[in-house]
Amino acid sequence: MSKQVPRILLTGGAGYIGSHTFVKLRQAGIEPVILDNFANSHPAVIERLARITGAPVCLERGDVLDRAFVEDVLRRHAPAGVIHLAGDKAVGESVAHPLKYFRGNIAGAISLLEAMEAVYLPVGPLGPPTLVFSSTATVYGDAGTGPIAEDFPRRHSNPYGHTKLVIEDMLEAVQAARPEWRIGVLRYFNPVGAHPSALIGEDPTGTPNNLMPYLTQVAIGRRSHLRIFGGDYPTPDGTGVRDYIHIEDLADGHVAALRTLQRTGESFTVNLGTGRGYSVLEVVNAFVDATGCPVPYRIVERRPGDVAQCYADPSRAMQLLGWEAKRTLEQMCADAWRWQSRNPQGYASGMASAASSQATEKENGLLVIG
Ligand code: UFG
Repeated sequence: MSKQVPRILLTGGAGYIGSHTFVKLRQAGIEPVILDNFANSHPAVIERLARITGAPVCLERGDVLDRAFVEDVLRRHAPAGVIHLAGDKAVGESVAHPLKYFRGNIAGAISLLEAMEAVYLPVGPLGPPTLVFSSTATVYGDAGTGPIAEDFPRRHSNPYGHTKLVIEDMLEAVQAARPEWRIGVLRYFNPVGAHPSALIGEDPTGTPNNLMPYLTQVAIGRRSHLRIFGGDYPTPDGTGVRDYIHIEDLADGHVAALRTLQRTGESFTVNLGTGRGYSVLEVVNAFVDATGCPVPYRIVERRPGDVAQCYADPSRAMQLLGWEAKRTLEQMCADAWRWQSRNPQGYASGMASAASSQATEKENGLLVIG
């Protein structure tokens, strides 16, 4: 790898969002170094990333909570910036184990920020400290009806959302104290889908909490039926409305965010969503249309903590980053299904599915390495 290729540290790079972001960064001519402890991801991801992108993957296996380790990684690789995705994200688990979330997410962010200040301040040849941070639309809580803009009030309704809110506040304070920082906060709406190669995708541990992985597991026969949480919301068909965004669009958003920080030097907070809400029933119908798979479902009680609707006003992302989501709900469903059907047990699936994925890669003219 030439020394001229700019590097980026990608914490949580083996996870669902991280792996797709890795591919987009590499395609944009940026060399990502993955820092991951595989607490919530599978080591098989690394080999798959090498196959998709046709080059070996640089991995630093370790914990973002280990400040000395992070500092050492930064000094050795001298990245031009950091994309921080590492952290825990299951809402229900955060209610049951709040300290795990406060420690993992908040102390993890502090560890990274301290390591970055030690390496990048005062500003030297590496340039100013540059960070893209993964936040969530959960910080808006129940924002009522209509599209949600970034200046809407924030509130938390569970410890997971609370940690993201605290980290956002922490970043603001860090920026105020040291204006050299360049920080891009990305508030994700509902990422779904998978890379079109079906080599990487969402692989939740245990019972999926989120709609799309649950739905694809029903379609593949791992679960008997989908439970639709609530049919009496004040929405057109009574089921909850969300802003589903293709993971490939979300990954593109990270590259755009990084480039914008580097070009303008100005910090920002933006929503990453499509601006279009779909109900649970609309998603189920789109999935059936896109894949031909039947999806049995039952409408059950509302899930505690859910809001009726949540969708983005994405105009600031367009203005600042020149980014907008392009992929349709149909593509989200087709890609989620391709991933699930070729990897019925996720990354733990056997060699047969890996071999069929490899065949597809060759068909697509992608380079496959050893
Ligand atoms: N849903 C079902 N059945 C399921 C799962 C979900 O009907 O088995 C419904 C939910 O009630 C909701 C919609 O599908 O109406 C989407 O639910 P998800 O769990 O997929 O997503 P959420 O909007 O609840 O939350 C997700 C992530 C959070 C993140 C948030 C950002 O889980 O981590 O999006 O808005 F913060």
